[in-house]
Amino acid sequence: MSSAARPVRLASADERAQAVCPLGACDGSGWILGPEDVARPCECRERRMARRRARGVRSVIPRRYRDVSLEIARNDGVSPVVLKVVGDFLEEIEPRLDKGQGLWLAGGVGAGKTALAMLVSKTAIEAGRTVAIYSLPKLLARIRATYEKDLGGDSYTQFFDRLISVDLLHVDDLGVEKRSDWVLEQLYAVVNERYEMERSMVVTTNLEQPALEEQIGERTVSRLIEICGPPLTIDGDDLRYPRAPAY
Ligand SMILES: Nc1ncnc2c1ncn2[C@@H]1O[C@H](COP(=O)(O)OP(=O)(O)OP(=O)(O)O)[C@@H](O)[C@H]1O
Ligand SMILES: [Mg+2]
Ligand SMILES: [Zn+2]
Repeated sequence: MSSAARPVRLASADERAQAVCPLGACDGSGWILGPEDVARPCECRERRMARRRARGVRSVIPRRYRDVSLEIARNDGVSPVVLKVVGDFLEEIEPRLDKGQGLWLAGGVGAGKTALAMLVSKTAIEAGRTVAIYSLPKLLARIRATYEKDLGGDSYTQFFDRLISVDLLHVDDLGVEKRSDWVLEQLYAVVNERYEMERSMVVTTNLEQPALEEQIGERTVSRLIEICGPPLTIDGDDLRYPRAPAY
């Protein structure tokens, strides 16, 4: 599994055993045992969790999208409606994920869909949630690779289970893959499983809904709408041009 897709990793038992309290206040476990065996959290616990959250962000958010923000989106002229919907989602990230709600960002090339989706993923990671991020072509390539068991990678079942168990599955660029029965089946299997388990997804696409239904199937799109709500369209010019280096 590539590092770009690794869910936030928690410390192993070994790492915990080697831990030393930087404040010299606890035994390294992050807990201080008081009278009558009542444990209270050591101050080092919050610091350690913050560090772990930061490491999680670095491990899954691609470099280009590490500093995305709503403020930048506002300066770029993204509509107040989009800013409000995404802003509300970020503010309520934990209950939204717990309810299995997601977001579907649509729009033209360079409109800022991936950036806002990354902002959602980043916020989820910072809240300590597990997140997996894939572009659809990369996701399908990973599934194909599980068929080559001899290479020592994950089995299909292991990989599929991980896709289902993360708190948030972020799939970028739905509909860019060439349509085939195999592609339709794979995507349906993942979306349907997350749908049944009431688990959140964030997706982005360049296509309008009818074109996407044609591309990935009506039944998959219907489930995505119940998870994410209808596509939230970002209008506007390609934001890459103003960011391009000047001569
Ligand atoms: N909110 C934001 N904060 C920071 N940078 C942003 C933001 N929105 C867009 N950008 C920048 O603008 C450029 C285009 O944005 P993005 O990659 O999200 O477009 P897109 O809609 O996903 O395009 P495509 O359909 O080609 O994938 C990128 O360089 C991105 O980093
Ligand atoms: Mg994109
Ligand atoms: Zn401590």
